[in-house]
Amino acid sequence: MRAIEIAEPGGPEVLEWREAPDPRVERGEVLIEVAASAVNRADVLQRQGFYEPPPGAPPYPGLEVSGVVAEVGADVEQFRPGDEVCALLAGGGYAERVAVPWQQVMPVPDGVPLREAAGLPEVACTVWSNVFMIGRLRKGETLLVHGGASGIGTFAVQLAKALGSRVVTTVGTAAKAERVRELGADEVINYREEDFADKVRADVILDIMGAKYLAGNVRALRTGGRLVVIGLQGGRKAELDLGALLAKRAAVHATALRSRPVDEKGAIVRSVVDNVWPLVSAGAVRPVVHAEVPMADAAEAHRMLDSGEHVGKILLVR
Ligand SMILES: NC(=O)c1ccc[n+]([C@@H]2O[C@H](COP(=O)([O-])OP(=O)(O)OC[C@H]3O[C@@H](n4cnc5c(N)ncnc54)[C@H](OP(=O)(O)O)[C@@H]3O)[C@@H](O)[C@H]2O)c1
Repeated sequence: MRAIEIAEPGGPEVLEWREAPDPRVERGEVLIEVAASAVNRADVLQRQGFYEPPPGAPPYPGLEVSGVVAEVGADVEQFRPGDEVCALLAGGGYAERVAVPWQQVMPVPDGVPLREAAGLPEVACTVWSNVFMIGRLRKGETLLVHGGASGIGTFAVQLAKALGSRVVTTVGTAAKAERVRELGADEVINYREEDFADKVRADVILDIMGAKYLAGNVRALRTGGRLVVIGLQGGRKAELDLGALLAKRAAVHATALRSRPVDEKGAIVRSVVDNVWPLVSAGAVRPVVHAEVPMADAAEAHRMLDSGEHVGKILLVR
């Protein structure tokens, strides 16, 4: 098969479309003929040499794919050759074929084109597990989503609205503000013009900035609030005012999806299929696709992500 190899750590130009060994299907795995993958910020960190794939994962980047099941390993009863699926990966999605534990494979939600489904596994599993399973966001509560126009943000805004929450989100431009309002955000804060911590009180905060926003996030939490940090774009170390947390009986969580064991990913995937896929099939939550780029031109897709002008997901299609 062919796959995108990282020739050496560096800029987008180090991504090269090359011959690569075909993956072997082990017991409990599903071999997927890839229709599309999608770009995640973690892929950029991996390209730059800052994010090693977990042990056992393929060396090629790519945390999600959609495609058709080509083969199943021993003990796999849940999927059959020919099934249209999408999957959460520990790596290896920028390739023509990938083998993945069956627990991380999902049917394509009804009504979603096969290629577009490649942009769903990371955002759906990340948002559902952090905002709803860990953050326990309930109907009527307020969610603050930082970076509402990101791949993660566009999904979080729609899902929280579909489940009856009030959604406030931060963005950096007027054009992105317009887009997230169209997705259903009740209030949009341009973080270049205003301090969100002066404006919003939230029950749950989904944070991608880490250190830079920690004090503001704690200030913006309501009593009993839950801050869930999933990104460190603003650094990893900051002072935490435990007194403020204590007074609000609030909690701070920080999680990463990629390094979780297969069983934990499987539990999230099953919960997503049960709780999120019906909303996607009903059209209440839609994949937001910024661009479709041929997989061989992954470097171009990374330049797009690096430019920061995208809204939603950038797909790599075959
Ligand atoms: N822990 C996990 O399991 C997990 C899983 C998936 C993703 N993530 C993380 O989630 C984040 C989003 O991922 P993605 O793939 O969706 O990335 P993405 O589409 O590239 O989005 C990055 C976003 O960051 C926003 N941003 C930059 N500076 C900001 C600031 N000061 N305040 C608010 N927003 C700001 C940008 O918005 P503007 O252009 O409007 O500034 C942009 O929309 C990344 O940090 C990623 O690492 C974590």
